Amino acid sequence: MKAIVYTEYGPPDVLQLKEVEKPAPQANEILIRILATSVNYGDLVARRFSHVKPHEFNMPLPFWLLARLAFGYRRPKNTILGNELAGEIEAVGAQVTHFRVGDQVFGYRGQSMRANAEYVCMPEDGEVALKPHNLTFEQAAVVPYGAITALNLLRKANIQKGQKVLILGASGSIGSAAVQLATHLGAHVTGVCSTPRMAFVKSLGADQVIDYTRTDFTQSGETYDLIFDILGKSSFSRCRGSLKQAGIYLLASFKLRHLTDMLVTSVAGRQKVICAMTPEKTGDLQRIKALIEAGTLTAVVDRCFPLEQTADAHRYVEQGFKKGPVAITVDHTS
Ligand SMILES: NC(=O)c1ccc[n+]([C@@H]2O[C@H](COP(=O)([O-])OP(=O)(O)OC[C@H]3O[C@@H](n4cnc5c(N)ncnc54)[C@H](OP(=O)(O)O)[C@@H]3O)[C@@H](O)[C@H]2O)c1
Repeated sequence: MKAIVYTEYGPPDVLQLKEVEKPAPQANEILIRILATSVNYGDLVARRFSHVKPHEFNMPLPFWLLARLAFGYRRPKNTILGNELAGEIEAVGAQVTHFRVGDQVFGYRGQSMRANAEYVCMPEDGEVALKPHNLTFEQAAVVPYGAITALNLLRKANIQKGQKVLILGASGSIGSAAVQLATHLGAHVTGVCSTPRMAFVKSLGADQVIDYTRTDFTQSGETYDLIFDILGKSSFSRCRGSLKQAGIYLLASFKLRHLTDMLVTSVAGRQKVICAMTPEKTGDLQRIKALIEAGTLTAVVDRCFPLEQTADAHRYVEQGFKKGPVAITVDHTS
């Protein structure tokens, strides 16, 4: 089968189209003929991991070291990137009961990756579900990572109807899902992003959009029940004046100082800092499928690239051009 393979860390040029062995399903696995996959934040970090310095990594130093060992210290251990996919089941293992050959599915592979390819095997109880019937394969392939992460992290804040929520990083994969989910929960949502992505964030349902290149939200005098900082670009000391009395500062990316703030606020004061990570397996895709079919969550694809041009997709994402997720189309006839 065709796959995009990289055997050394580096710029997008390290990604090469190659013929590799087609996987065969174990007894508890399904074999998915991938029709669309994606390029997201995780792919970019994994592709150039040996060049990512600890201070650039969005987690404390021990996490950087553990991740680097897991991904391969000098060379990538797993040579095929891609953590999201949508496609059709081509074969099932002898013990598979929930899926059938021909089912259209979408899935999330987290750090297991290997979705930038024509085929992949997944355990039937993995992060895989029937594809929402109202999405194309490309749309379905860009949903899982952002939606699973946003859903899991927002649960920590227990958003109530009428609350005011500010989302920093609202134009990204996680942020665009978070804007839609918080709006669905009845919150008044303010998205923060840069000028070119304001219309995109507004189109997701945000009540207000702040352009951080022109306006500093901490100076507006507005206060929020929740500030969700996806990239960990801000700090509790900067945000606390913009939080209500019992407000929460929730971080998807955090450093040691944020963890210290979490510890201190867990024992003192009403405002809380929460640093949270999504587990590798959440079982949330069924819920996400239902939200999409109900029209609560939409999938916006900024651009599609053919599998052969995955390196170009990396360049496009890396240069900061994307307005929404980027999909990869896998054409089995070419
Ligand atoms: N906790 C977890 O379990 C978990 C899981 C996965 C990923 N993460 C973290 O999530 C982050 C990636 O998120 P993502 O995949 O959504 O990223 P993404 O799709 O790459 O998008 C990031 C967005 O942030 C915006 N941005 C950059 N600087 C900003 C600023 N100062 N203020 C507001 N927005 C800014 C960028 O667009 P603009 O032009 O609009 O600025 C971009 O659209 C990483 O830091 C990663 O570590 C956490």
